[in-house]
Amino acid sequence: MAAAADGFGVETSGMGERRGMNGSDLAARQATIRRRIEELAPWFHNIDLNGIPTAPDHPLNDYPTWKWRRFAHAVPEDLSGRTVLDIGCNAGFYALEMKRRGAELVVGIDEDERYLSQARLAAEVTGLEVEFHRLSVYDIARLAQKFDLVLFMGVLYHLRHPLLALDLIHEHVAGDLVLFQTMQRGSDVVWELEEDYGFWNDSIFHYAGFPAMYFIEQRYAGDPSNWWIPNRACAEAMLRSAGFEILQHPEDEVYLCRRVPAPATRGAPPALRPPHPDEAMTARRHKRLE
Ligand SMILES: C[S@@+](CC[C@H](N)C(=O)[O-])C[C@H]1O[C@@H](n2cnc3c(N)ncnc32)[C@H](O)[C@@H]1O
Repeated sequence: MAAAADGFGVETSGMGERRGMNGSDLAARQATIRRRIEELAPWFHNIDLNGIPTAPDHPLNDYPTWKWRRFAHAVPEDLSGRTVLDIGCNAGFYALEMKRRGAELVVGIDEDERYLSQARLAAEVTGLEVEFHRLSVYDIARLAQKFDLVLFMGVLYHLRHPLLALDLIHEHVAGDLVLFQTMQRGSDVVWELEEDYGFWNDSIFHYAGFPAMYFIEQRYAGDPSNWWIPNRACAEAMLRSAGFEILQHPEDEVYLCRRVPAPATRGAPPALRPPHPDEAMTARRHKRLE
């Protein structure tokens, strides 16, 4: 790997090797990294930044390293020449892993500026080049690009409008593969669904294998940003309904999918927000009010 300046005025090989540093330079560099990690705390991603962990006391332990190990095999090992979008990238753990697999372009988006600052620091210290932007999943049309691999991990249940987000991903950014993860609660039984059920058949709603989503009006796990938590049947049905064929289910909460044409939306138009105000309609309405 080519040597590059790491933002601390030091040449790195991208593998932790430091050139032209004496002991006190190295100590000063470590102190700077530690201070910047602390300034940006708390971290949800525990990332090793030159030997310094960003979240050593994480309640989920070494997260998300242990999670990643469970499904890393499902992601192509060589991503050279491919483009990757990480939606809700947080401190960039997965975006950096995609760059380590050789992706040509990795873009991480998140709506939280503090997480993006963490991600930028992680990229700077590791010497991995990733683009980070403040952008909500609801606004991804603004990227105006389709990506070979889209990561949509741990975000669905934080959204008030989860199916809209899946529809927007399908419409605007998913070019081929989608790596999806959601918290799941309730039954993990998955029912073989029939195409239709009679009006008086309400027994299906009492069966564990029927797709169901739990609405969190207040908070779950102390987190007011949790809105909807699907059971397994629902997570899988939503993916299919938004036009994502499930290729692999390598971990309880993780699915590797392929974008396919969205199934016909039963005659209704897709529930997508128009990316821009409809100027013609606005003009017509103003005219009526004159
Ligand atoms: C539980 S974390 C998951 C982080 C990472 N993707 C992972 O799997 O470890 C959820 C992330 O989604 C981000 N997020 C929440 N709502 C979002 C939205 N509407 N658009 C983009 N990111 C969002 C949060 O800021 C947070 O970084």
